[in-house]
Amino acid sequence: MEIITRAPRLRSVAAKLAAENKSIGLVPTMGALHEGHLQMIREAQRMTDVVIVTIFVNPQQFKSEAALRAYPRDLAQDMETLKPLGVDYVFTPSETEMYPDGFASWVEVGVHDHELEGAQRPDHFRGAATVLTIYFNLVHPKFVFMGQKDAQQTIIAKKMVRDLHSPVEIIVTPIVREADGVAVSSRNAHLTPEQRKALHVMPRALRAAEQLFNQGERHAGKLVKAMRKELDAEPLARVDYIAVTDTEHLDPLDDVKDKASIISLAVYFGDTRLIDNLILNDMKFKARAGIRLGEAKT
Ligand SMILES: Nc1ncnc2c1ncn2[C@@H]1O[C@H](COP(=O)(O)OP(=O)(O)OP(=O)(O)O)[C@@H](O)[C@H]1O
Ligand SMILES: [Mg+2]
Repeated sequence: MEIITRAPRLRSVAAKLAAENKSIGLVPTMGALHEGHLQMIREAQRMTDVVIVTIFVNPQQFKSEAALRAYPRDLAQDMETLKPLGVDYVFTPSETEMYPDGFASWVEVGVHDHELEGAQRPDHFRGAATVLTIYFNLVHPKFVFMGQKDAQQTIIAKKMVRDLHSPVEIIVTPIVREADGVAVSSRNAHLTPEQRKALHVMPRALRAAEQLFNQGERHAGKLVKAMRKELDAEPLARVDYIAVTDTEHLDPLDDVKDKASIISLAVYFGDTRLIDNLILNDMKFKARAGIRLGEAKT
């Protein structure tokens, strides 16, 4: 496993791999690696010849300096986690490597990018799309792997790839969940034991909506109401948003009918804000609704 910190080195490694006709799978992360990341890496290894994992905590994606500083980082531990997997390359650039002095070019994808996850962090998706574009230009990956947990990010990335004709395909991997159904997330490390227990209300709320849906309810407001009821009963949870949208443009839906749709939510536990989601009416996702740890296939 080679650890690369400089962009020119990454570019020359990727060029050599291309000359050898090797396909590259890219797995972008912010580090503090967990089973969600590892599932993406394993999928990348199945689908491509060479896997490049990136670890970069993108300052653009944070609401405040304090939130950026508090983000869990453990590069040494991440390397230990990656070694046994047989990952080929890890790209861990510094902030100045990604944004050198005078950096002034940004990629904006105008699909509700200032709503939901972008509402309080207006630069969030601009930062994510720009970093992805830099990676694509350096590496020319065949596939890039992104988690369904960050559903809005996958929708924005797919839209960017379509609009800009990027020669890359985005592979969305299912949400990896703890045994109690909670989505694995780096930020879960910020929670107190009580908050971690309370976090269970998120998958519970999604399940309540899913049950109603399975009973034939198609009115988005009714699904949201059922979720609110669950969430309001948990004193440690403070809802940021619950949204029912389509899966292509994130357009809000009043009625989910037979359209592929997504219910997403963000909830605060103390200062920690966590997200989760559920896809409805999409056969592609039906078979891959999520992976519970312990049942996870490797
Ligand atoms: N539980 C999960 N299941 C599947 N993919 C995941 C999961 N958690 C994160 N990912 C994916 O890993 C990629 C990198 O995410 P990131 O490094 O921000 O991890 P994270 O756990 O989402 O961190 P945070 O807690 O800060 O949101 C994203 O594509 C994200 O969707
Ligand atoms: Mg994340």
